[in-house]
Formats: sequence, C-alpha cells, structure tokens
Amino acid sequence: MNINNCYNFEDFRKIAKKKLPAPIFHYIDGGADDEVTLNRNTEAFGDCDLVPNILNSVGEPDLTTNLFGRKIDMPIFLSPAAMQRLYHPDGDKASARAAEKFGTFYSMSSMGNNSIEEISNISSGPKLFQLYVHKDRSISDDLIERSRRSGFDAMCLTVDTLVAGNREKDHRTGFTTPPKLTAKSLMSFAMKPGWVFNYLTGKKFELSNVKKKTDKGTNIAKSVIEYINEQYDPAMGWKDAEYCAKKWNGPFALKGIMSVEDAKRAIDIGCTAIMISNHGGRQLDGSRSPFDQVKAISDAVGNKLEIILDGGVRRGTHVLKALAAGATACSFGKAFLFSLSAGGQKGVERLLENMQNEIRRNMILMGCKSIKDLDASKIIYRN
Ligand code: LAC
Repeated sequence: MNINNCYNFEDFRKIAKKKLPAPIFHYIDGGADDEVTLNRNTEAFGDCDLVPNILNSVGEPDLTTNLFGRKIDMPIFLSPAAMQRLYHPDGDKASARAAEKFGTFYSMSSMGNNSIEEISNISSGPKLFQLYVHKDRSISDDLIERSRRSGFDAMCLTVDTLVAGNREKDHRTGFTTPPKLTAKSLMSFAMKPGWVFNYLTGKKFELSNVKKKTDKGTNIAKSVIEYINEQYDPAMGWKDAEYCAKKWNGPFALKGIMSVEDAKRAIDIGCTAIMISNHGGRQLDGSRSPFDQVKAISDAVGNKLEIILDGGVRRGTHVLKALAAGATACSFGKAFLFSLSAGGQKGVERLLENMQNEIRRNMILMGCKSIKDLDASKIIYRN
C-alpha cells in the first residue's frame, strides 16, 4: 500500500507498522497500563450523534477559525510529539512544512530532534511550542526565551506528565532515546533494514532543544520513562505554571487539563487556552476521555478560554462533534505520527488533506456554512 491509498487512521498505521522497528512503532501506538483510556478516547465520540439541518444552501463551507492569535485554515492541528526523527529522517521539518501547507499549527516538543531555531528558519506557518517544567529550571527558561526569539506564536505547558505513565510495551521492547541495540531489541531492528539505513545515514539523533544542557537522551541512552522521571519536576505546581505563562507573555495553554475546576484556575493564572488531554492515554489509565469532558468545560469557561480537544481524533466527524460540544479546535498525535512514518512530509499532507476533505464534506452534509454553525444543537447524546 502507498500513501495515496491511505484513507483512514488504520491505513497509515498499517504502513507505519511495516516500516518501523517494533520498539518505535509500539512507543507511538501504546498507552498506559491496560490502555483503557487510550481506547476510550476514540470510543467516546460514538456516544453522541450528529444532527444535520438540511437545505441550508451551504455551497462552499468556511473551515477557518482563530486560535492562539492566528487564523488557521482548518480546525485541527498537529499535537506536539517527541523525537520525530525516529519516524522519518526529515523529522519535525516534514511535519512543520506539511502543517504550513495546510495553514494549520505545527507543534514542537521540548524533546524534538530539530531545534526551535531550525524549524523557525524553514516555516513561517503557525507554530506552538510544548514546554515541560524541568527540575533544572534554567532549561525551561531557555526554551521559553528561544521560542520567543524564534517567533513561535504560542506555548503550551504539559501538566499531565509529572512522572511517566506505565507504558508496558516500552518496558517489554526496550525502547530508548536514542535507540540502542539490546538483546531485547536487536531482532526488531534487524527486521527493518530500510529504517536502520535511514537512521544511520541521516542527521545524527539528538534532543536538539536540550542537548547543550544535558547529554541524557542524546549521548546517554535512556528509556523515555527514565528520561521523564529524571528531567521533569514531579513537584511542579500552579505557581510554576503561572511563572511560565507570565514569562511567555503571549498565547498560552495548559496541556492536560481535564476538570472544570482546573480550567477555571487556568484563567486565573493568565492562560488564553487549555488543551483537554490525557496525553493520548499514555499517562493516567482510567482517566476520562477529552470528549467526555469538553462540554462541561466549555459550558463553564468557553467564553473565556480557547479550548483544544486533544485525544482520540481519527475522523472529520470527530472534529465536528468536538466543535459542537464546545471545542475551538482539535489536535491529534498518533494519527499524524503514523502518517509521518508512512510517508514523511507527503504522508502528513495526505492525512491533512483527508481530514480537510472529511470536515468540508461533512459540514456540507450537516448544513453548516462555517465553524460557528457547529453548536450544541448539532449533537444529541445517547444517554
Ligand atoms: C511521551 C512524551 C515524551 O508521551 O510526550 O512519550
């Protein structure tokens, strides 16, 4: 199968599985503990139905919306994701270019394999930086300063990963950053010679944004679980989040908000947005899904904050449901990482094109001329 025959999540996932060594595929694909939350994130969209209003003379629907001070061409963007060099030799450059082409946000992880500066040099598209509060606060400060200097539009602070979730697949496969050959992983790398060739001949693997401050993850191989537990501060609190929001002093989101109470508190510390997220089911298993929470959060704070739903999005109709339930926009991680693995920039473009077509087609079928027509009257919950 090639990417032009990819119509849905599973199509991209299949190609990614063929191309990637098992530890890398399962790092994207897996969730925490029993993966209950991972699965629930997508299933939750099935608990309500879309209700169209017909004969609205829609013609060409307007998919644009405003987010983080930028006008974007479609209400979905690429979630921040670490180590994109593992999925394709072009890494973040491929995703940043594809997002720019489709007029939507690319997001850069603190754990990126390209630097903030490299990406700002190749893309003038909308860019979001994803921050972690490190034990060594000079790392977080440095990331904020550099994102500002490099013209990133917005920043999100991840608040759901103070310790690493229990990703049992990573334990079993021996996944590390940088990838390391071990007795456990040797066979899985040997079975993907194409990937090994690209990895060895391409740009050196490094955690480009933090390599000057720590060798861990760049020259010292660590499992991601060890890396998170060593680098990020489990005692981070509201004061730290407020410090980051003030220091950034621009469009700022907390990523990983799940409750109405925390969403209200986000406003108090100066956030302009929140990302309702459980880190793709990779952290607290048994946590509610973002879709299950979006309505209550939007009813409480939707007029004061932009609300991004991050988690479980596979289809254009999921985006429509999220918007009708009160989200400003959606973001997706797994879907885009599989498309990046399947075809680099072209793969991500194919995914975004599919999503754009799905959103456009389904807005016409729903009788919606613009994003604001997707309101509470357009969905009915089954229970
Ligand atoms: C993860 C972090 C690094 O989910 O975002 O692995």
